[in-house]
Amino acid sequence: MKGVVLAGGLGSRLHPLTKVTNKHLLPIYNKPMIYYPIETLVEAGIRDIMIVTGGKNAGDFLRLLGNGKEFGLAHLNYTYQEGEGGIAAALSLAEFFADGQPICVILGDNIIEGSIRRYVENFKKQGGGARILLKEVDDPGRFGVPAIQGDRIIRIDEKPKLPASRYAVTGIYMYDEEVFGFIQDLKPSDRGELEITDVNNAYIERGRMQYDVLEGWWTDAGTFESLLRASNLVSQNAQRSD
Ligand code: DAU
Repeated sequence: MKGVVLAGGLGSRLHPLTKVTNKHLLPIYNKPMIYYPIETLVEAGIRDIMIVTGGKNAGDFLRLLGNGKEFGLAHLNYTYQEGEGGIAAALSLAEFFADGQPICVILGDNIIEGSIRRYVENFKKQGGGARILLKEVDDPGRFGVPAIQGDRIIRIDEKPKLPASRYAVTGIYMYDEEVFGFIQDLKPSDRGELEITDVNNAYIERGRMQYDVLEGWWTDAGTFESLLRASNLVSQNAQRSD
């Protein structure tokens, strides 16, 4: 299984912090944001990783991460997203890298407390399709929100005004090789982006989507509030393990 970290986009919600640097290079407690999703993949045993980045500071990723030695890796792959075409557009750039193998995708601003190892193992056992991780949150309307019937997700709504559940779809997704075909068929959403929620809905429509509920805390870090929350959560963890 290969890993993809999506760290493109312009981070416009964090202006002026992102005026002269990329959002994923901002600090979360004692490390740059991008370290956390890479560590999440490596901890789950995924060692073949591609970083999708973009914007004016893409070269800084190479200077910061090099070939991934700090993470115990021998090599890191990079690609460049022009503009801000959406999460699914960023993912489409990893098709060549994936080379027909299953992938675990993580958004560059998603930070978690625990391990995804067991969910990756569940995906390997399910025999193709897709698997996503849900987390109960106080403000589901900020995220992709699943409508659940019995033990199945019947649909995901992106940032709904009336959320169908208390769950957020976290930015950790596992896909088989079909994903790139689904992305090719997408049309841009009202916000002009190729939405990862539409990719997930394509799997749901075909009865090929499964999920786990993520244990431990989860946060994104793409707004001022969540950026601060992420640092606080990581620092509390660090103090507990001292
Ligand atoms: O954090 C989880 C949420 O992420 C999901 O619940 C939503 O369904 C999903 O759409 C996404 O929502 P956001 O609106 O918070 O995504 P955002 O535009 O902030 O992008 C999140 C990350 O995705 C960003 O840190 C880098 C990557 N990205 C995003 C865009 C728009 C790219 O690599 N390229 C892009 O063009």
